[in-house]
Amino acid sequence: MTSCRICGGRLHEFGDFGTQPLSSGFLEPDYIGDEYFFRLALGVCASCGMVQLMEEVPRHLMFNGHYPYLSSGSSVMRKHFEQTAQYFLKTELTSPDSFAVELGCNDGIMLKALAEAGVRHLGVEPSESVADIARRLGIRVTTEFFQESTATEIREAEGPAQLIYAANTICHIPYMDSIFRGVDALLAPDGVFVFEDPYLADIVEKTSYDQIYDEHYYFFSVTSVAAMAERFGFELVNAERLEVHGGEVRYTIARKGRRTPDPSVAELLAEEKAKRLTRLDTLKAFFGQVERSRDDLVSLLRKLRAEGRTVVGYGATAKSATVANYCGIGPDLVSFVSDTTPNKQGRLTPGSHIPVRPREAFENPYPDYALLFAWNHSEEIIAKETRFREAGGKWILYVPHVRVV
Ligand code: SAM
Ligand code: TMP
Ligand code: ZN
Repeated sequence: MTSCRICGGRLHEFGDFGTQPLSSGFLEPDYIGDEYFFRLALGVCASCGMVQLMEEVPRHLMFNGHYPYLSSGSSVMRKHFEQTAQYFLKTELTSPDSFAVELGCNDGIMLKALAEAGVRHLGVEPSESVADIARRLGIRVTTEFFQESTATEIREAEGPAQLIYAANTICHIPYMDSIFRGVDALLAPDGVFVFEDPYLADIVEKTSYDQIYDEHYYFFSVTSVAAMAERFGFELVNAERLEVHGGEVRYTIARKGRRTPDPSVAELLAEEKAKRLTRLDTLKAFFGQVERSRDDLVSLLRKLRAEGRTVVGYGATAKSATVANYCGIGPDLVSFVSDTTPNKQGRLTPGSHIPVRPREAFENPYPDYALLFAWNHSEEIIAKETRFREAGGKWILYVPHVRVV
């Protein structure tokens, strides 16, 4: 791509991670054949400030019956979505016939609470593997990609939605024009479209470059989301910073003039302007930090290998695909990665081909060092793995900078 997927403005490339595999493309150990690779590079739009990938991966390669990611794998996230559901029940879903639609509902982590409260709901989830889990919990799910045509069908069958919600999903979808036309077709006149995704300012400030991978097409800021909402005939009326997943923003979008914008929008817009967040020079400097972070991590892992230390990975995250492949980390530097997800275990990490083993492998025996790929769940993980530290183990973290703790 050389022009912006949102506004057609000129894209300036500022970072290239080289060829990368599908971040959730875990391989069978006896796999032979071609792995899919694409060029993972980033650009910023000179007109609207949207940061986006330069190359798009076809959606059916990422989201299908093999999609392994399970939202309910973290207790912190289960709590986050339970609280989110309770908040919507008190605010947007108060009338007896309220209807809520969730895009990318995954295993039902959020809709479960709405279903239990008896609220009319529908999940739109193209990945059959996870949609089936939600269905088994009694949640209504349609296995489709959300886009204009899906929205129109839902509107005709179910009526308007008071709430359209999406967590960690909207930034995965390049075709935003179709999404907003779909929202326009489906949303009730006073309804809201709420989505939360990793925040560009957190990524830049924490050098958390592992947020950049095939599935994350956009890297939102309040500046770019406000411009996007306006372009498609809507208005950004709230922007709330969240701690989850290493720092996100929850955006609330309404039809133009229907809600009074919260001061948070103007405050964050001013903050981003002062930081020059969406400016090319800022983003080029960020990429300089990324290169330093990579060099520090590779030096540390090589030093540990030379000293004969054992190092394993913790959390075969989608994010870790970028780290492993960009830094050239294979089984010679990290012998295996422990992960609780059944559909990742027994397989090899994409591109880097590190074996994935169940959690039990982590303590049999404990390694000298554990590279915490799931750093966004560090509090939860370090708290439950106290015996690793007691056994003399140390954690390696690389966000916001490479260190051993
Ligand atoms: N909402 C969950 C959470 O926050 O943990 C799941 C997030 S998961 C990273 C992204 C989800 O979006 C996947 O389950 C994927 O199948 C789904 N997805 C991708 N494209 C979509 C689309 N066009 N419409 C609806 N869901 C989509
Ligand atoms: P995420 O960072 O995209 O949420 O992915 C987290 C990955 O880490 C997921 O594959 C599950 C795994 N995981 C563990 O193995 N143990 C844990 O305690 C947690 C919270 C996650
Ligand atoms: Zn643009």
